[in-house]
Amino acid sequence: MKNNIIITGFMGVGKSRTARALAASTGLFALDTDDLIESITHSSISAFFAAHGEPAFRALEQQVANWIESSVDHTIVSTGGGFFMVENILDLGHVFFLDADFDAIYKRLLAQPGNRQIAKRPLFQDPDQARKRYYDRLPLYRKNAHYILKTEGRESSVIALQIRDILRSKGLLPVQPDRPFF
Ligand code: S3P
Repeated sequence: MKNNIIITGFMGVGKSRTARALAASTGLFALDTDDLIESITHSSISAFFAAHGEPAFRALEQQVANWIESSVDHTIVSTGGGFFMVENILDLGHVFFLDADFDAIYKRLLAQPGNRQIAKRPLFQDPDQARKRYYDRLPLYRKNAHYILKTEGRESSVIALQIRDILRSKGLLPVQPDRPFF
């Protein structure tokens, strides 16, 4: 298994924010699988879904996972909500599943100005379908993770510190970058 830190969870649970907070508190770099896909396709995720569909997107996620496995070390990786389904997820690093109730996630997304957080997510356009997808996925998120963290009502900075402490207690953080920048 690689020594990356992989953050999984449903759309809108706060994976990217947690990854950035963890980067700031450990000195490790963070990357995001959706950002990588947007850069290689030169397209937004929603435009890519509209033009090519979900199976093409999943194939790109598997390509990203293979690149992480072959070429990425000591890096924090925030993932798209379906990335946990790549076949080698548990080999990519220490996988942390951010767990929150569907209603809490939905409420937080709705609270963002201009509906932006919902608009940019092609698989969150119909709330009933998103809820079903959430419950279908839940056991798999749990199965495809090394750690499960309850996140409701907690700031991403607090969750990041919890992840840092778990990694530290297991001797999994490299000595040198274990230094906050902020
Ligand atoms: C998806 C989640 C999205 C993005 C794509 C598919 C999913 O990422 O990867 O729209 O299948 O759950 P976020 O989790 O950042 O919304």
